[in-house]
Amino acid sequence: MSKPIKLAILGLGTVGTGVVHLINDNLNELKRRSGRDIIITEVGTRRQRDDIDSSITQNADLMTVASSDNVDIVIELIGGTTLAKDVIMHAIKNGKHVVTANKALLAEHGNEIFALAEANGVHVAYEAAVAGGIPIIKVMREALAANRVDWLAGIINGTGNFIMTEMRDKGRPFDDVLAEAQALGYAEADPTFDVEGIDAAHKLALLASIAFGIPLQFDKVYCEGITGITLQDVNYAEELGYRIKHLGFAVRRTGEQDNAGQGNADEDNAGIELRVHPTLIPQDALLANVNGVKNAVLVNSHPLGQTLYCGDGAGAGATASAVMADVMDLVRVLGSNDDSNSANNSQYVPHLAFIPEQLSDTTILRAEQMTTGYYLRVHAFDHPGVLADITRILSDAGINIDAILQKPAHKLGQVPVIILTLPVVESQMNVAIEKIEQLESITDKVVRIRLDELS
Ligand code: HSE
Repeated sequence: MSKPIKLAILGLGTVGTGVVHLINDNLNELKRRSGRDIIITEVGTRRQRDDIDSSITQNADLMTVASSDNVDIVIELIGGTTLAKDVIMHAIKNGKHVVTANKALLAEHGNEIFALAEANGVHVAYEAAVAGGIPIIKVMREALAANRVDWLAGIINGTGNFIMTEMRDKGRPFDDVLAEAQALGYAEADPTFDVEGIDAAHKLALLASIAFGIPLQFDKVYCEGITGITLQDVNYAEELGYRIKHLGFAVRRTGEQDNAGQGNADEDNAGIELRVHPTLIPQDALLANVNGVKNAVLVNSHPLGQTLYCGDGAGAGATASAVMADVMDLVRVLGSNDDSNSANNSQYVPHLAFIPEQLSDTTILRAEQMTTGYYLRVHAFDHPGVLADITRILSDAGINIDAILQKPAHKLGQVPVIILTLPVVESQMNVAIEKIEQLESITDKVVRIRLDELS
């Protein structure tokens, strides 16, 4: 019988505790499926916990745990990008394999961490870092390995989706729903990461690196959160057959064909779009009906076509499930046929699913080069010719209007005019909006939300 695999869990918060419970609850399954006993030998925790089995060593010094001789795999669940980075680098240098749910750390320092792991012949696995319990990293690294990914779009922050769903369905105030998400253990330690889109941007950087074989480039992700979304826009969108979701997009643009029909074919717009923002999508799209804390990732790849992966994106059980899936994968490559703990690296898909020397240097597009449809809400005085002025500016900019909704004047003779456009390069839309805002009859800043038909 092979010797047991020994785990260290660093951090006993919501997820760490979830991992301990999962191992206790499903130990027989874990043993049966991996062929080895799996035991937690050490936990790194600031406070001594009396709910932890006495056979497990508790230690507040995480560096000591990370290099302990009594540990094969270090599971990092403390979060953050400072101590967590030091601990992971220390574990790697000491020959430990690492499993982490830390998307912020990998998105910002992953290139360095993966290179160190490569040099030390160990693995850093991170299924739990993206979309909670959905096995999207494994799918992208393995099941879709033969496909060319053209684009992916995902609801990749459970807290944001929970807030948007509750606001739309129940008209609940933003702060109230956010407080509930925090109490349920969905939200980040700093919840602005959820509502400002930063958490989703971290995850998108990870997904895009696998999809396109590019280095991690979190700093190039265009990022907009949900704090500016009003019930008014949610309702207008619904009236027009759309729903507003907070989405992350990674899109491969070839330039010419994407701008066909817009009169602006421009090779400068060839590259990869990495963007996170509220988006109007058709109400009948599957993604539009992924509600609550659920996450979903829609991948459009060739030749497979569209596939959708959906499940709980946050919370103890979902995240622990992903952490332990990685542990099980590592157990399988850790000499399951003998007593050795050194990995058979040739059998393990590289961290980012491609050979490090094969990284692509494809350009990441700037925001003004990105192409999307738009929802515009313009507030205008109810004068003859206002609508004509607005539509003329859009048509002069080569922007194709898809729908217009004008509401009766509701205050001081102002009318909200809602316009949906076909896809347009952002720089063109910027010029048009600037001109619309200069019209005398326009009273407020134009509200713009991106729109995508997901087709
Ligand atoms: N705060 C994150 C979310 C947790 O709400 O999705 C999972 O990454």
